[in-house]
Amino acid sequence: MGQVKLITKYFETPGCEKLPVFESVGGYSRLRRIVEEEWTGEKIIATLKASSLRGLGGAGFPTGMKWGFVPKDAEPPKYLVVNADESEPGTFKDRHIIMRAPHLLIEGLTIAALAVGAHEVFVYIRGEYWEPYRVLKNALDEARKAGYVGDRIMGSGRSVHVTVHRGAGAYICGEETALLTSLEGYKGWPKLKPPFPAVKGLFRRPTLVNNVETLSYVPVVLDIGPEEFAKVGIERNGGARLFGVSGHVNRPGIYECALGTPMREVIYDLAGGIRGGKKLKAVIPGGSSCPVLTPAEIDVSLDFDSLAKLGSMLGSGGMIVMDEDTDLVKVLYRICKFYSNESCGQCTPCREGTGWMTRIMERVYRGNGTSQDLDNLVDIAEMIGGNTICPLGDAASLPVMSFIRKFRPEFEARLSRKYVPSGEIASPGAEGATR
Ligand SMILES: Cc1cc2nc3c(=O)[nH]c(=O)nc-3n(C[C@H](O)[C@H](O)[C@H](O)COP(=O)(O)O)c2cc1C
Ligand code: SF4
Repeated sequence: MGQVKLITKYFETPGCEKLPVFESVGGYSRLRRIVEEEWTGEKIIATLKASSLRGLGGAGFPTGMKWGFVPKDAEPPKYLVVNADESEPGTFKDRHIIMRAPHLLIEGLTIAALAVGAHEVFVYIRGEYWEPYRVLKNALDEARKAGYVGDRIMGSGRSVHVTVHRGAGAYICGEETALLTSLEGYKGWPKLKPPFPAVKGLFRRPTLVNNVETLSYVPVVLDIGPEEFAKVGIERNGGARLFGVSGHVNRPGIYECALGTPMREVIYDLAGGIRGGKKLKAVIPGGSSCPVLTPAEIDVSLDFDSLAKLGSMLGSGGMIVMDEDTDLVKVLYRICKFYSNESCGQCTPCREGTGWMTRIMERVYRGNGTSQDLDNLVDIAEMIGGNTICPLGDAASLPVMSFIRKFRPEFEARLSRKYVPSGEIASPGAEGATR
């Protein structure tokens, strides 16, 4: 367990965003093997299943199994959609892959398209990612010229066309059904599932949706072999992933670790521990929607199942580390505000509930709340969870429940402390305290 260099080895090769450099370190050799040996879709899917690779966009669904859901004998067109929307606060790993190893993603997506029989691929990239968009477009031009994508790849009878589509900066468009609706040209509103995109997705055709990081591990699986890949991680959680560590650590950044690595190792060894020798107060393990952990919980193994047992999630691997001076009331207020702003407004519990939670949290943050407000927050969060069309409702409610349950004394203390416009928090009864 610990740090590995499966994807990050490409980051460490200078100039790897350029095709000749990528080829010089084995790039596209996995795709070439599949094309030259005429692997069937079934064979590719069986290989992925044996690797235990799980989706790294947030939900952690087994990748090989998901590919197997796309109907084999369906008439064309079938689509592959690459989710490069990456808008969850605390998450920044897909951007690194696209900027530093775009061809790894292109190789992975081409193999995935061949596996499910998709001839058209859409990469839906976050609108604000202008520079990654440019790098990806350049890499695609290179790959097209070299015959790795486009018509009759590598002289075979198989074609895979890739289009890059820029989003307009809406977080909800990262949710797969909203993403597909947005790609069709409509407002990005999530849809009820089933039907799942694998059966009825883009333009009501079978569609595979995968995250950038998930697809970038596909060439790695083929390179080292599915059994070796599975062994890097732990049972049911194959391989490794990129952890984006941010917040109050000495060395924030991207660390690639085997699944099963203890969180403590990532925070204290790789990221260098807490800045200024301060104490750790809280960690959000995988993007702002994941329930927060206390310092007593950081010996958890970083894998999908262990985090779920602890009542949290591995999510997108965006680990937000907070030191003893962090104002958790402010953190939760900000999180509430984010999800309320980003709610698409389709479901009443999410539209109204996220607004209520934000208004109550603002009151608590400004020192005008009551103990009843804290109880109400948990009640509202419980009523949103599981009662909405898409998981944004859960994403908004889980942080509220976990912050208040685990750090209630800090929230209670704030009820009698007024906010001063300078951003300071006054002592109880302080002269001049104001709203
Ligand atoms: C509100 C919301 C936002 C999401 N944003 C993203 C995103 O930016 N990128 C991503 O890959 N998945 C995101 N997801 C998860 C996707 O719906 C989907 O599960 C994922 O793209 C599937 O790919 P994977 O199987 O490779 O993980 C989001 C989900 C929700 C509910
Ligand atoms: S849960 Fe929220 S974001 Fe998701 S569909 Fe309902 S209103 Fe829209």
